[in-house]
Amino acid sequence: MNMPAAQPADGERHAAVLVRDVDMDFGNGPLAVQSASFSLEAGRFLTILGPSGSGKTTLLRMIAGFQKPSRGQILIGGKASDAVAPHKRTIGMVFQKLALFPHMTVNENVAFPLKMRRFNPKDIPERVARYLDLVRLGGYGTRRIHELSGGQQQRVAIARALVFEPDLLLLDEPLAALDRKLREEMQLEFRRIQKELGVTTINVTHDQREALVVSDEIIVMDQGRIQQHADPVAMYRKPASPFVANFIGVSSFLKGEVTETGLSVNGFSCAGTLPRNMSLGSVAQGAIRAEQIRISATAADLASCDTTLQGTVTDTIFEGERLLYFVAVPGLATALQIYHHDPLGHAPHDRGAAVTIGWNARDLLIFPPQNM
Ligand SMILES: Nc1ncnc2c1ncn2[C@@H]1O[C@H](COP(=O)(O)OP(=O)(O)OP(=O)(O)O)[C@@H](O)[C@H]1O
Ligand SMILES: [Mg+2]
Repeated sequence: MNMPAAQPADGERHAAVLVRDVDMDFGNGPLAVQSASFSLEAGRFLTILGPSGSGKTTLLRMIAGFQKPSRGQILIGGKASDAVAPHKRTIGMVFQKLALFPHMTVNENVAFPLKMRRFNPKDIPERVARYLDLVRLGGYGTRRIHELSGGQQQRVAIARALVFEPDLLLLDEPLAALDRKLREEMQLEFRRIQKELGVTTINVTHDQREALVVSDEIIVMDQGRIQQHADPVAMYRKPASPFVANFIGVSSFLKGEVTETGLSVNGFSCAGTLPRNMSLGSVAQGAIRAEQIRISATAADLASCDTTLQGTVTDTIFEGERLLYFVAVPGLATALQIYHHDPLGHAPHDRGAAVTIGWNARDLLIFPPQNM
């Protein structure tokens, strides 16, 4: 029996992309994507972030119409994503493997989707030149692909995905193969181009920095499930679970019993922010960011912190702009990770040094047991 399609809710009615209760079952284990639901407004830049195997590419391929969901619906601009033949879809795509045509010139590569879509040949050169300018490759049109650097090739792929002015741009880790400096430059380029054109974009990555830098919204996935959908600041400051807190940024975790003011961890009172409806004495997990713990040789320096603990430095990692300390506190199960910027002092705490660490209650986030 054919079930009638459910009507979109009010907030979803004008969505550029609507994903509702989508599963993907490859029949070889747990569902690759499970009960995925979200909607994305036109002009927004969404990043799907998650570890390897979490279902990001599978979700993107279903949105692209390459794969049919085992369950649920995907609407692009109100139409089923697989209802339109691939060459007629107004979706631009850039994949990790670029799939540029190596024997063609840059101009020919960028013109290709226009020819496929039967654009008027008279208009093609001007349009190709305009999009090459947009990706800052004006003047490179007659080069062959192998005569370009990796980053330049990446930009050709972007121009090719955008040249027919798609309604939707899908990116699957297109920057993963680039070195860090170039990748960070290209992230800013993506952001600039997306803002300039206003094209609705879904980007897949496992690079948390990229997600924070380029996106209007982020979805974090784990084991096929959407864990959280939020803007970058909320995702960072108010992670919905320890998984999200651990995946974005560097956090230390403390397990203890709920008290009036936070957690009691092996007898240590750790001030924290409790979610509503936590019962006193129940077991919960706290997470605190490495940049929200202070460290000092003298306890008096940290008198303003809500919690202070005495510990010993077990490791120091020099990261250039900052140091990462591991500090063991007797009685706590794991060493706490602490960032320290020391631009003037140049006097790191040595391994083995006795230190005081401290934080404020609002920075230790406490999660109910069902989220642990
Ligand atoms: N065509 C396929 N047939 C069977 N299983 C598949 C297929 N494609 C993906 N899977 C499985 O589905 C799960 C999700 O894979 P997917 O490629 O979506 O992950 P991902 O988040 O994109 O990972 P990565 O970051 O490594 O690219 C994995 O367990 C994978 O083995
Ligand atoms: Mg993938």
